[in-house]
Amino acid sequence: MRKPIMAGNWKLNKTPNETIVFVEEIKPLLAGVDDVEIVICPPFTSINVATYLTKNTNIKVGAQNLYWEKSGAFTGEVSGEMLKELGCDYVIIGHSERRQYFGETDRTVNKKILSAFAAGLIPIVCVGETLQERAAGRIEQVISTQIREGLKGLNAREHGKIIIAYEPVWAIGTGQTATPEQANAAHMLIRKLLTEILGEAAQAVRIQYGGSVKPDNVKELLAQPDIDGALIGGAALKADSFEKLVKFGR
Ligand code: PGA
Repeated sequence: MRKPIMAGNWKLNKTPNETIVFVEEIKPLLAGVDDVEIVICPPFTSINVATYLTKNTNIKVGAQNLYWEKSGAFTGEVSGEMLKELGCDYVIIGHSERRQYFGETDRTVNKKILSAFAAGLIPIVCVGETLQERAAGRIEQVISTQIREGLKGLNAREHGKIIIAYEPVWAIGTGQTATPEQANAAHMLIRKLLTEILGEAAQAVRIQYGGSVKPDNVKELLAQPDIDGALIGGAALKADSFEKLVKFGR
């Protein structure tokens, strides 16, 4: 019922030339895959070449961030409209690295989500607890605040298309994946919160898992009923590995 969505979050990796090499390698490997939505999220400087080379293919492109104003005196920022014009369909918002290193809060996440929709982009909104928060038994409280504050002002009719990425901070880039059961429990909680906010539309919202997803653990994670895809960092950077992930380890 919910089409799985597998997205590569490249972070600060790949120059435009490296992007050309990756995209040309991955296109034939993924040709014909139509039961999974495929997204790559390069850095801003590689988006132009990525959207150009993936035009009329089954690979879509997302950005890793945006600013909520359309234009103006905001040195160094990029708007949703600019990304849309380049051919982006998605934008990652509120990744834990942005919350940790770049001062993002639930309030800025909220502004970015609303401006992404206004620009015609679908936000992939990241939430997740730290190890300390998990140890203190605060998972529910943390995720609930991130979802309720982040998604303020959203209504089901306009915004049921949102994508949530559950990324426990302790699992990102550490090789320590949440077990499929741990992940699914968090996803169920998120869907319950989404139902309170969006009503029935919450059933259609795709919730990705992220945090050390690899070709050898993707299958069991995606087998969980509430896991509808993955947001993948390190393992999405090599074409053969990304191909396996998109094909669920097959
Ligand atoms: P990882 O990163 O797959 O390298 O753990 C995931 C992410 O940060 O989105």
